[in-house]
Amino acid sequence: MEKTQIIEEIKKLKKERNAIILAHTYQNVEIDEVADFSGDSLYLSQQAAKTDADIIVFAGVYFMAETAKILSPDKKVLLPRLESGCLMADMINLQQLREFKAKNQNIPVVCYVNSTAEVKSECDICCTSANAVNVVRSLGTKEVLFVPDTYLGTYVGTQLPDVKVITYPGYCPTHLRIKPEDIIQKKQVYPDAMVLAHPECHKEVTKLADFVGSTTAIIKKAKESDKKEFIIVTEKGVVDRLKRDCPDKEFILVSQKAICPNMKWNTLEDILNSLQNDTYEINVDPQIAKKAISTIDRMVNINA
Ligand code: 13P
Ligand code: SF4
Repeated sequence: MEKTQIIEEIKKLKKERNAIILAHTYQNVEIDEVADFSGDSLYLSQQAAKTDADIIVFAGVYFMAETAKILSPDKKVLLPRLESGCLMADMINLQQLREFKAKNQNIPVVCYVNSTAEVKSECDICCTSANAVNVVRSLGTKEVLFVPDTYLGTYVGTQLPDVKVITYPGYCPTHLRIKPEDIIQKKQVYPDAMVLAHPECHKEVTKLADFVGSTTAIIKKAKESDKKEFIIVTEKGVVDRLKRDCPDKEFILVSQKAICPNMKWNTLEDILNSLQNDTYEINVDPQIAKKAISTIDRMVNINA
Protein backbone atom coordinates (compact mmCIF):
# COMPACT_ATOMS: atom_id res chain seq x y z
CA MET A 1 0.00 0.00 0.00
CA GLU A 2 1.20 3.57 -0.73
CA LYS A 3 2.10 5.74 2.26
CA THR A 4 -0.74 8.19 1.55
CA GLN A 5 -3.22 5.31 1.40
CA ILE A 6 -1.98 3.93 4.73
CA ILE A 7 -2.37 7.37 6.30
CA GLU A 8 -5.93 7.73 4.93
CA GLU A 9 -6.84 4.26 6.15
CA ILE A 10 -5.47 4.99 9.65
CA LYS A 11 -7.43 8.26 9.83
CA LYS A 12 -10.62 6.51 8.73
CA LEU A 13 -10.22 3.73 11.28
CA LYS A 14 -9.44 6.20 14.05
CA LYS A 15 -12.81 7.87 13.46
CA GLU A 16 -14.75 4.62 13.09
CA ARG A 17 -13.28 3.16 16.27
CA ASN A 18 -13.09 6.36 18.36
CA ALA A 19 -9.36 5.87 18.77
CA ILE A 20 -6.52 8.29 19.41
CA ILE A 21 -2.86 7.92 18.60
CA LEU A 22 -0.23 9.22 21.02
CA ALA A 23 3.31 9.53 19.64
CA HIS A 24 6.50 10.13 21.59
CA THR A 25 9.06 12.57 20.16
CA TYR A 26 11.56 9.74 19.59
CA GLN A 27 9.23 7.92 17.18
CA ASN A 28 9.88 7.87 13.44
CA VAL A 29 8.85 11.37 12.41
CA GLU A 30 6.27 10.18 9.84
CA ILE A 31 4.15 8.81 12.72
CA ASP A 32 3.29 12.43 13.58
CA GLU A 33 1.20 12.54 10.38
CA VAL A 34 -1.41 10.33 12.04
CA ALA A 35 -0.85 11.27 15.70
CA ASP A 36 -3.48 13.20 17.67
CA PHE A 37 -0.90 14.21 20.26
CA SER A 38 2.84 14.09 20.03
CA GLY A 39 5.28 15.16 22.71
CA ASP A 40 7.21 14.14 25.79
CA SER A 41 6.31 11.52 28.38
CA LEU A 42 4.60 13.99 30.72
CA TYR A 43 2.40 15.51 28.04
CA LEU A 44 1.41 12.10 26.68
CA SER A 45 0.52 10.75 30.12
CA GLN A 46 -1.66 13.83 30.71
CA GLN A 47 -3.43 13.20 27.39
CA ALA A 48 -3.89 9.52 28.24
CA ALA A 49 -5.47 10.54 31.55
CA LYS A 50 -8.04 12.90 30.05
CA THR A 51 -9.06 11.40 26.72
CA ASP A 52 -12.58 10.07 26.20
CA ALA A 53 -11.57 7.88 23.28
CA ASP A 54 -12.33 4.16 23.47
CA ILE A 55 -8.92 3.11 22.21
CA ILE A 56 -5.45 4.55 22.77
CA VAL A 57 -2.77 3.47 20.31
CA PHE A 58 0.56 4.28 21.92
CA ALA A 59 3.39 4.90 19.48
CA GLY A 60 6.10 4.70 22.09
CA VAL A 61 7.60 2.06 24.35
CA TYR A 62 6.01 -0.52 26.64
CA PHE A 63 6.08 1.46 29.91
CA MET A 64 4.24 4.34 28.20
CA ALA A 65 1.39 2.08 27.09
CA GLU A 66 1.33 0.51 30.56
CA THR A 67 1.10 3.98 32.14
CA ALA A 68 -1.76 4.89 29.79
CA LYS A 69 -3.59 1.69 30.79
CA ILE A 70 -3.12 2.47 34.50
CA LEU A 71 -4.54 5.96 33.96
CA SER A 72 -7.39 4.77 31.73
CA PRO A 73 -8.24 1.25 32.88
CA ASP A 74 -11.55 1.12 31.00
CA LYS A 75 -9.97 1.92 27.65
CA LYS A 76 -8.28 -0.45 25.28
CA VAL A 77 -4.58 0.43 25.08
CA LEU A 78 -2.61 -0.87 22.11
CA LEU A 79 1.14 -1.00 21.55
CA PRO A 80 1.76 -1.61 17.83
CA ARG A 81 5.07 -3.49 18.36
CA LEU A 82 5.59 -5.61 21.46
CA GLU A 83 9.38 -5.50 21.04
CA SER A 84 9.32 -1.82 22.03
CA GLY A 85 10.64 -2.14 25.55
CA CYS A 86 12.74 0.42 27.42
CA LEU A 87 16.14 -0.91 28.44
CA MET A 88 16.33 1.50 31.37
CA ALA A 89 12.90 0.48 32.71
CA ASP A 90 14.03 -3.15 32.64
CA MET A 91 17.07 -2.40 34.82
CA ILE A 92 15.05 -2.55 38.04
CA ASN A 93 12.53 -5.17 39.13
CA LEU A 94 10.45 -5.40 42.27
CA GLN A 95 13.02 -7.37 44.20
CA GLN A 96 15.83 -4.95 43.34
CA LEU A 97 13.59 -2.04 44.35
CA ARG A 98 12.82 -3.69 47.68
CA GLU A 99 16.52 -4.27 48.35
CA PHE A 100 17.31 -0.65 47.48
CA LYS A 101 14.58 0.55 49.85
CA ALA A 102 15.72 -1.81 52.61
CA LYS A 103 19.25 -0.35 52.42
CA ASN A 104 17.84 3.20 52.66
CA GLN A 105 14.87 3.01 55.00
CA ASN A 106 12.22 5.68 55.66
CA ILE A 107 13.15 7.82 52.66
CA PRO A 108 10.49 8.64 50.03
CA VAL A 109 11.00 6.96 46.68
CA VAL A 110 10.59 8.86 43.42
CA CYS A 111 10.36 6.71 40.32
CA TYR A 112 11.02 7.94 36.84
CA VAL A 113 8.07 7.12 34.58
CA ASN A 114 10.52 4.92 32.63
CA SER A 115 9.80 2.00 34.98
CA THR A 116 7.47 -1.00 35.09
CA ALA A 117 3.99 -0.86 36.65
CA GLU A 118 5.19 -3.20 39.40
CA VAL A 119 8.02 -0.85 40.33
CA LYS A 120 5.68 2.15 40.26
CA SER A 121 3.31 0.30 42.56
CA GLU A 122 5.89 0.34 45.38
CA CYS A 123 7.14 3.91 44.98
CA ASP A 124 5.72 7.10 46.49
CA ILE A 125 5.55 9.41 43.49
CA CYS A 126 6.33 9.28 39.80
CA CYS A 127 8.13 11.88 37.67
CA THR A 128 9.18 12.49 34.09
CA SER A 129 12.22 14.34 32.81
CA ALA A 130 10.01 17.44 32.48
CA ASN A 131 8.95 17.64 36.11
CA ALA A 132 11.57 15.65 38.07
CA VAL A 133 12.98 18.72 39.85
CA ASN A 134 9.48 19.97 40.82
CA VAL A 135 8.42 16.52 42.00
CA VAL A 136 11.46 16.08 44.24
CA ARG A 137 11.08 19.64 45.55
CA SER A 138 7.38 19.02 46.29
CA LEU A 139 8.29 16.27 48.78
CA GLY A 140 10.03 18.78 51.03
CA THR A 141 12.37 16.16 52.50
CA LYS A 142 16.14 16.30 53.00
CA GLU A 143 16.66 12.95 51.25
CA VAL A 144 14.95 11.07 48.42
CA LEU A 145 15.56 7.76 46.70
CA PHE A 146 15.45 8.01 42.93
CA VAL A 147 14.93 5.01 40.59
CA PRO A 148 15.92 3.81 38.05
CA ASP A 149 17.90 6.58 36.27
CA THR A 150 21.05 7.54 38.15
CA TYR A 151 21.77 10.41 35.71
CA LEU A 152 18.37 12.07 35.89
CA GLY A 153 18.52 11.67 39.68
CA THR A 154 22.01 13.18 39.80
CA TYR A 155 20.87 16.07 37.60
CA VAL A 156 17.95 16.75 39.99
CA GLY A 157 20.45 16.80 42.85
CA THR A 158 22.49 19.52 41.11
CA GLN A 159 19.33 21.64 40.82
CA LEU A 160 18.32 21.14 44.47
CA PRO A 161 21.49 21.46 46.55
CA ASP A 162 19.57 21.09 49.84
CA VAL A 163 18.26 17.65 48.93
CA LYS A 164 20.36 14.49 48.97
CA VAL A 165 19.22 12.40 45.98
CA ILE A 166 20.25 8.77 46.43
CA THR A 167 20.09 7.12 43.02
CA TYR A 168 19.68 3.56 41.82
CA PRO A 169 22.33 2.63 39.23
CA GLY A 170 20.07 2.44 36.13
CA TYR A 171 20.69 4.37 32.93
CA CYS A 172 19.56 4.84 29.34
CA PRO A 173 22.00 3.07 26.99
CA THR A 174 21.06 5.40 24.13
CA HIS A 175 21.90 8.57 26.04
CA LEU A 176 25.02 7.03 27.57
CA ARG A 177 26.46 6.45 24.11
CA ILE A 178 26.78 10.24 23.84
CA LYS A 179 30.25 11.32 25.05
CA PRO A 180 31.55 14.77 26.10
CA GLU A 181 33.98 14.56 23.12
CA ASP A 182 30.98 14.45 20.76
CA ILE A 183 29.89 17.89 21.96
CA ILE A 184 33.44 19.27 21.94
CA GLN A 185 33.95 18.11 18.34
CA LYS A 186 30.65 19.56 17.14
CA LYS A 187 31.40 22.82 18.94
CA GLN A 188 34.64 23.12 16.96
CA VAL A 189 32.62 23.03 13.74
CA TYR A 190 29.68 25.11 15.07
CA PRO A 191 31.20 27.43 17.72
CA ASP A 192 28.08 29.63 17.95
CA ALA A 193 25.61 26.78 18.31
CA MET A 194 23.47 26.43 21.42
CA VAL A 195 23.86 23.01 23.09
CA LEU A 196 20.59 21.45 24.28
CA ALA A 197 20.78 18.20 26.26
CA HIS A 198 18.44 15.66 27.85
CA PRO A 199 18.99 14.93 31.58
CA GLU A 200 19.30 11.19 30.89
CA CYS A 201 22.80 11.97 29.56
CA HIS A 202 25.93 11.40 31.64
CA LYS A 203 26.68 14.29 34.00
CA GLU A 204 29.90 15.11 32.13
CA VAL A 205 27.70 15.64 29.06
CA THR A 206 24.95 17.75 30.68
CA LYS A 207 27.71 19.91 32.23
CA LEU A 208 28.63 21.06 28.71
CA ALA A 209 25.07 22.03 27.77
CA ASP A 210 23.59 25.53 27.62
CA PHE A 211 20.17 24.07 28.41
CA VAL A 212 18.99 20.77 29.95
CA GLY A 213 15.39 19.64 29.59
CA SER A 214 12.84 17.08 28.43
CA THR A 215 12.34 16.45 24.73
CA THR A 216 9.48 18.97 24.57
CA ALA A 217 11.46 21.55 26.54
CA ILE A 218 14.41 21.16 24.13
CA ILE A 219 12.12 21.65 21.13
CA LYS A 220 10.47 24.72 22.69
CA LYS A 221 13.80 26.29 23.62
CA ALA A 222 15.22 25.80 20.11
CA LYS A 223 12.07 27.18 18.45
CA GLU A 224 11.97 30.27 20.66
CA SER A 225 15.69 31.07 20.47
CA ASP A 226 17.11 33.74 18.15
CA LYS A 227 20.12 31.50 17.49
CA LYS A 228 20.44 29.79 14.14
CA GLU A 229 22.44 26.66 15.04
CA PHE A 230 21.71 24.03 17.68
CA ILE A 231 23.59 20.93 18.78
CA ILE A 232 20.93 18.49 19.93
CA VAL A 233 22.10 16.11 22.65
CA THR A 234 19.35 13.52 22.77
CA GLU A 235 17.65 10.98 20.52
CA LYS A 236 17.47 11.63 16.77
CA GLY A 237 13.66 12.00 16.72
CA VAL A 238 14.02 15.46 18.27
CA VAL A 239 16.31 16.61 15.43
CA ASP A 240 13.95 15.21 12.79
CA ARG A 241 11.02 17.18 14.23
CA LEU A 242 13.01 20.40 14.60
CA LYS A 243 14.26 20.16 11.00
CA ARG A 244 10.68 19.68 9.83
CA ASP A 245 9.29 22.58 11.86
CA CYS A 246 12.14 25.14 11.50
CA PRO A 247 13.68 24.84 8.03
CA ASP A 248 15.47 28.19 8.46
CA LYS A 249 17.57 26.93 11.40
CA GLU A 250 20.28 24.30 11.56
CA PHE A 251 20.03 21.32 13.90
CA ILE A 252 23.01 19.07 14.45
CA LEU A 253 22.57 15.63 16.01
CA VAL A 254 25.40 15.32 18.54
CA SER A 255 26.21 11.72 17.55
CA GLN A 256 24.87 9.23 15.04
CA LYS A 257 24.78 6.78 17.96
CA ALA A 258 21.95 8.75 19.58
CA ILE A 259 19.21 6.50 18.24
CA CYS A 260 16.97 4.38 20.48
CA PRO A 261 16.31 1.16 18.52
CA ASN A 262 13.23 0.35 20.59
CA MET A 263 11.61 3.69 19.80
CA LYS A 264 12.12 3.08 16.10
CA TRP A 265 10.21 -0.21 15.73
CA ASN A 266 6.84 1.37 14.98
CA THR A 267 5.98 2.08 11.36
CA LEU A 268 2.78 3.44 9.83
CA GLU A 269 1.99 -0.13 8.70
CA ASP A 270 2.23 -1.31 12.33
CA ILE A 271 -0.16 1.40 13.44
CA LEU A 272 -2.65 0.44 10.75
CA ASN A 273 -2.30 -3.19 11.74
CA SER A 274 -2.83 -2.23 15.36
CA LEU A 275 -6.13 -0.49 14.58
CA GLN A 276 -7.28 -3.32 12.33
CA ASN A 277 -6.39 -6.23 14.62
CA ASP A 278 -6.19 -4.72 18.12
CA THR A 279 -2.48 -5.50 18.33
CA TYR A 280 -1.11 -5.61 20.95
CA GLU A 281 -3.43 -5.03 23.85
CA ILE A 282 -1.60 -3.99 27.04
CA ASN A 283 -3.09 -4.99 30.37
CA VAL A 284 -1.91 -4.39 33.91
CA ASP A 285 -2.78 -6.61 36.86
CA PRO A 286 -5.59 -4.69 38.63
CA GLN A 287 -3.97 -5.04 42.07
CA ILE A 288 -0.72 -3.56 40.78
CA ALA A 289 -2.56 -0.91 38.78
CA LYS A 290 -4.46 0.17 41.89
CA LYS A 291 -1.23 0.84 43.76
CA ALA A 292 0.62 2.31 40.76
CA ILE A 293 -2.16 4.80 40.00
CA SER A 294 -1.66 6.73 43.21
CA THR A 295 2.06 7.04 42.40
CA ILE A 296 1.24 8.45 38.95
CA ASP A 297 -1.74 10.52 40.13
CA ARG A 298 0.43 12.33 42.66
CA MET A 299 2.63 13.43 39.78
CA VAL A 300 -0.22 14.34 37.41
CA ASN A 301 -1.84 16.42 40.17
CA ILE A 302 1.34 18.43 40.80
CA ASN A 303 1.25 19.48 37.15
CA ALA A 304 -2.51 19.84 36.75
P1 13P B 1 10.85 12.65 27.68
O1 13P B 1 11.91 13.68 27.69
O2 13P B 1 9.90 12.76 26.59
O3 13P B 1 10.15 12.52 28.97
O4 13P B 1 11.47 11.20 27.37
C1 13P B 1 12.70 10.71 27.43
C2 13P B 1 12.74 9.27 27.17
O5 13P B 1 13.78 8.66 27.12
C3 13P B 1 11.53 8.53 26.97
O6 13P B 1 11.82 7.22 26.87
FE1 SF4 C 1 14.37 3.82 27.27
FE2 SF4 C 1 16.46 5.32 26.63
FE3 SF4 C 1 14.97 4.35 24.69
FE4 SF4 C 1 14.00 6.28 26.29
S1 SF4 C 1 15.68 6.46 24.85
S2 SF4 C 1 12.96 4.41 25.64
S3 SF4 C 1 15.01 5.72 28.23
S4 SF4 C 1 16.17 3.13 26.17
